Amino acid sequence: MILGRVKSLDAILATAERKSLHRTLGWFQLTLFGIGCVIGTGIFVLTAAGAQKAGPGLMLAFAIAGGICIVAALCYAEIASMIPVAGSAYTYTYAVMGELLAWTVGWALILEYAVAASAVSVGWSGYFTGTILNEFMGIQLPAALAAGPLALGGAPGGLINLPAVGIALLVTWLLMIGTTESARVNAVLVLIKVTALTLFIILTLPRADVAQFNPFLPAGVFGGFGSGVGAVGAAATIFFAYVGFDAVSTAAEETKNPQRNVPIGLIGSLLFCTVFYILVAAGAIGAIGGQPIMGPDGTPFPAGSEALAEQCAMAQYAEMLVCSDEALAHVLRQIGFGPIGNLLGIAAFVALPSVILILLFGQTRIFFVMSRDGLLPEKLSAVHPKWKTPYIVTALTGIGVALAAAFLPVGQLADIANAGTLYAFMMVAIAVLILRRTEPNRPRSFRTPLVWLIAPATVAGCLFLFFNLPTSAMLVLPIWGAVGLLIYFLYSYRASHLGQGRMEVHEPEIADLEPPVPGTE
Ligand code: ALA
Repeated sequence: MILGRVKSLDAILATAERKSLHRTLGWFQLTLFGIGCVIGTGIFVLTAAGAQKAGPGLMLAFAIAGGICIVAALCYAEIASMIPVAGSAYTYTYAVMGELLAWTVGWALILEYAVAASAVSVGWSGYFTGTILNEFMGIQLPAALAAGPLALGGAPGGLINLPAVGIALLVTWLLMIGTTESARVNAVLVLIKVTALTLFIILTLPRADVAQFNPFLPAGVFGGFGSGVGAVGAAATIFFAYVGFDAVSTAAEETKNPQRNVPIGLIGSLLFCTVFYILVAAGAIGAIGGQPIMGPDGTPFPAGSEALAEQCAMAQYAEMLVCSDEALAHVLRQIGFGPIGNLLGIAAFVALPSVILILLFGQTRIFFVMSRDGLLPEKLSAVHPKWKTPYIVTALTGIGVALAAAFLPVGQLADIANAGTLYAFMMVAIAVLILRRTEPNRPRSFRTPLVWLIAPATVAGCLFLFFNLPTSAMLVLPIWGAVGLLIYFLYSYRASHLGQGRMEVHEPEIADLEPPVPGTE
C-alpha cells in the first residue's frame, strides 16, 4: 500500500547523528538569522499590492498573517527539534505520513522556495530599475525589458523582466560555486534593512494624517471567496512578507539550549517583523494615502491585473502608493525626502539578493534530499568535485526561477508561493499532532505549548488564508499537485529507494556537502 511507505524515524535520525553539528547558536543569532530570511520583497514591494487589496486595512492584514505564522512557528520548532535533518517539511512528512504525502509536500515546497525566489527577484528589479538605473544613472530602461508582458499581469509594453533574470542567475552562480552567507554578512544586511525601515517609520509617522485612514476598510474584512481583496485577501498576499522564518527551525540542531532559544528565535523574529511591518504600513498610508483604486463595481481592481496597470498609467493615479514598484522609496520621495528614499532603495538593492540566496539554497537542498531518496533522478544530486555543491540541481533550479521571474509579476508570484507554503505549514502542524500520539516518548528538545490548540489553529489559519487567495493562485496548487502526482506515479514510485527496499543512508555525501545553515556560521 503506497500510504504505508513511511521512512523510519530512527533511520532518519541516524543520518542526523553523523552530522553532529556543534551547538553554538544563541537566541540572538537565531533571531538575527530569522529577520535576515524574512524581511524582503514582502514589505519593500508588496505593501503596494496589499494597499490595493485592503487600503489602510493592510495594517490588520499584517497582524492576521503574523499571528498565523507565530502559531505555525511553534509547530515547526517542535518537529525540527525532534527531526533535525535536511529537507524541512518534506523530511518531517516522510517520517510521519509516508512517501506519497511527503512527495506532495516536497512538490509544494518548490512553490515556497523557488517561486518565492522568483518573486523576490522581481521585487529587487523594481528597486534596481527605479533607484539605481533611473535615479542615480539617469537611465530609463525600456518598458519591454523592465517587466513581464501585460497579458500575464506585467506592465504596459512589458516583454521580459531582464534585471530579475540577471539577479536570479547571478545568485544561482554564487550558490553553484559554493557561496554561503556568513553570520557577519547576514548581521550587516539585517542592520541595513532594519535601519532603512526604522528611518522610514521615523520620517513618515509624524507626517501621518488621520484622514488617510478613513475609510479604514474600503474593501471590507472579507472581500469574498477567491476575490483576493479585503483585509484577509491582503493578509493572504502579504503572508509572503513572513515566508522564510521556517529556516530558523532548521538550525535547531546547532542551537544551544534549543528548548529555550529556538522558540525565542522564531517568535522573536516574527514578533519583531510583525510590529515593524504594521508601523511601516501605518507610515506609508498615513503619509501619502493608501486607498485602493476602485473598479466600476465598487471593489478594488485586482492587484497585478491588466485593468489596474491601465489605471496606473493615467496621470491622476500614477503617483499613488498602490501603483508603485518601489513602494517605500516612492513614499519618501513623495513627502520630500528624495535622497533618503534613494538610500532606502539602495538598502533594498543590497539586501534583497541575500533573501534570494537563502530561498534558492533551501530549494536546492530539498531537491537534493528528494533525489537522494530516489524520488527524483539521482543525477540531479551529483556534487561538483571542486565546488562541493549540488551544481546540476542548482543550475536547473536557477533557470526555472529566472524564467518565472522573467514573465510574471511580483504579486502573482508571491500568491503562488504562499499557496505552496500554506500547504507545507499545514502538513507540519498535522505531523506534530500525529507524532504526539505515535511517538509520545521520543525526546523533543522543544514542546509546543498547548499543542492541541496551537496545531489545529495553525491548520485552520493556513486553510483560512489559502481560501482567501485570488482564485488563480488557489488553482495553481491543485494543478501543480496533479502534475507532481503524475511524475510520482510515472517515475518516483518505482525509483524510490524506500520502495525498492534500499534503506541505506547516503549520509557522508550530505555531511560533506551540507554547509552550515546560511547566516549562522
Ligand atoms: N519574506 C521574504 C520576503 O518578503 C520572502 O522577501
